[in-house]
Amino acid sequence: MKKLIFSAVLFSLIVLRIISCSTALKEGQTCVADSNCDSGLHCETCIANRNVRPRCTRIQPISPYSKAKGLPFNRYSWLTTHNAFARLGEKSATGAVILSPTNQQDSITSQLNNGIRGLMLDLYDFNNDIWLCHSFRGRCYNYTAFQPAVNVLKEIQIFLEANPTEIITIFIEDYVTSPKGLSKVFDAAGLRKYWFPVSAMPKNGGNWPTLDNMVQKNQRLVVFTSKSAKEASEGIAYEWRYVVENQCKSFYIFFYLLLHSQLIMMGFSLADGNGGMKAGLCPNRAESSSMNTTSRSLVLVNYFRDVPDVTQSCKDNSAPLLDMVNTCYKAAGKRWPNFIAVDFYKRSDGAGAPEAADVANGQLVCGCGNIAYCKANMTFGVCDIPQAAAAPAPGTVAHDFGSGYLNSKPAQLQWLLGTAFVALLLSL
Ligand SMILES: *[C@@H]1O[C@H](CO)[C@@H](O)[C@H](O)[C@H]1NC(C)=O
Ligand SMILES: *[C@@H]1O[C@H](CO)[C@@H](O)[C@H](O)[C@H]1NC(C)=O
Ligand SMILES: *[C@@H]1O[C@H](CO)[C@@H](O)[C@H](O)[C@H]1NC(C)=O
Repeated sequence: MKKLIFSAVLFSLIVLRIISCSTALKEGQTCVADSNCDSGLHCETCIANRNVRPRCTRIQPISPYSKAKGLPFNRYSWLTTHNAFARLGEKSATGAVILSPTNQQDSITSQLNNGIRGLMLDLYDFNNDIWLCHSFRGRCYNYTAFQPAVNVLKEIQIFLEANPTEIITIFIEDYVTSPKGLSKVFDAAGLRKYWFPVSAMPKNGGNWPTLDNMVQKNQRLVVFTSKSAKEASEGIAYEWRYVVENQCKSFYIFFYLLLHSQLIMMGFSLADGNGGMKAGLCPNRAESSSMNTTSRSLVLVNYFRDVPDVTQSCKDNSAPLLDMVNTCYKAAGKRWPNFIAVDFYKRSDGAGAPEAADVANGQLVCGCGNIAYCKANMTFGVCDIPQAAAAPAPGTVAHDFGSGYLNSKPAQLQWLLGTAFVALLLSL
């Protein structure tokens, strides 16, 4: 017992030292709170990967603009949030408790500030307006409705206004049938002036305009819908004319249980689960042409579960995500993904989804293993690999530090106790 207390005290001393010097901690270093970590990092554990030690992990990709502004839009990769609006713990604006699954931890504004540039939004007709809803069979209910879409679209408008060189892509899962419903809500949010016109999108696998060009023309909002007719009727691009996308969902059933007079939603998968997550496979989604169809200039990789799982997401968004990016690169005819879509994008055991975007950007922008290795105004294929990263493969440095401790049992116990002790301290 004495030894246990000693371990806990030792850990708390380490923690106190960290806090008292208040130097920003780097990726992989032990932390107690987000504020201990360097910018672009937060403090978390990934129990699903058996990494109980709280450490600073990445929540922001490197902006590819920092290395190259003049390349076509399809030569960049953008980190994308699946069901960007479905925030954990959110209450429905109808006042009802939301019974739908949730997929992200923070607001759209926070996501944009962290460098998310692709947003997947499910839009429905509801209450004589257009709402963000996570529902089934195309109908929205109070207990599956999040909020009126205009609120979130206004957040996007404010971000675009404040950041005149940033470009955002929206993927709409479109259940809107009211006449010009989408056009009206985008207009109401003040987003029309940023609209990237369908006429300027390459139809046969050509390059998109360059970022520079899109910025100069202020055509900084790219919008895709899942309804093909809206391209002609409202000038909203039908996604699968321009994008190939891997499978993301198998069919699953939700049912409701009345328990203590509360509706509880349950779901289970009909297929053997998680369509886009089978290692080594990257089949196209039913609506999309096959991944290797080069007449579509953009490639989107989905990597999330049928039923979102905040606990497992840190594991999913780590090595398995990078593996899938590589698998889909091959399936897509040696094309790196332009969009990488995940649940709980902040969660990982180290560098996670931001690193996956950095890897894709490195390959797309300069032909190097990571955007960090691209030189400004570089020649394609000339990489600037820092000495420290050159020996171990990028991204493994922090993990080695962690597993070295976790592999020895007494040390693991110490971390566990230490964590519990700190939790106790913080709760006092
Ligand atoms: C849904 O919420 C609205 C308030 O936005 C309320 O007026 C209505 O009665 C609710 N409907 C149900 C079925 O609870
Ligand atoms: C493209 O992918 C499909 C599978 O989705 C495959 O059947 C076909 O042979 C591939 N075509 C080429 C040219 O690789
Ligand atoms: C890169 O090129 C642009 C113009 O093409 C120039 O303005 C800029 O200074 C260059 N940057 C570096 C680091 O050489």
